Amino acid sequence: MPGILLGDEFPNFEADTTIGRIKFHDFLDKSWGILFSHPKDFTPVCTTELACAASLSDKFAKRGVKMIALSVDGVEDHCGWSKDVMAFNSQPSSPLPFPIIADEKRELATKLGMLDPDEIDADGIPVTARCVFVIGPDNRLKLSILYPATTGRNFDELLRVIDSLQLTAQKKVATPVNWKPGDKVMVLPNVSDADAAALFPNGVTNKEVPSGKKYLRYTQL
Ligand code: BEZ
Repeated sequence: MPGILLGDEFPNFEADTTIGRIKFHDFLDKSWGILFSHPKDFTPVCTTELACAASLSDKFAKRGVKMIALSVDGVEDHCGWSKDVMAFNSQPSSPLPFPIIADEKRELATKLGMLDPDEIDADGIPVTARCVFVIGPDNRLKLSILYPATTGRNFDELLRVIDSLQLTAQKKVATPVNWKPGDKVMVLPNVSDADAAALFPNGVTNKEVPSGKKYLRYTQL
């Protein structure tokens, strides 16, 4: 079964990209990284996604996250498509602010379980689904999301989950439903009340529930 699981070391693959040949771990250079795959170059939904990703690139950089896209066409097509993407963003003279991996033989897409069996290209081969991998500074997979080719992603949501991943990598908390930075967070179930009191100087509040169990513990960081 191809694919990669949370906590696995992300493969240190070599690939041709729009910035030349890379070795993935060297590209990441111990930073956070986000790799997002696309079904095909010069396709409408992908173009809107890449344009949005480009417009948010400063926000990814602010979080120390290196961006890289992947599609199953070659570098020449990627370079031509990048120009369309930036023109779509009304910035025709700016380069796309992140590279695109050329996975023409679908080697990486196959290895990482990124193919969408419901979307077949003109040669009858499945195209890449819309996969998102967030990789930590330890080169391990911290999050993966897989959308079919027909559903575009929400890159604001990706920034939100990165904020959660980076926060929860540092503190013994978890972020509740629809959390955004600045909202209260929840104390991890495996932290004792005594430890929580010491760890969270702003205090811990408990939401009462019929079971009487005290597991809904919030704190403001
Ligand atoms: C698109 O990017 O618009 C797209 C690509 C492949 C299948 C469906 C949509």
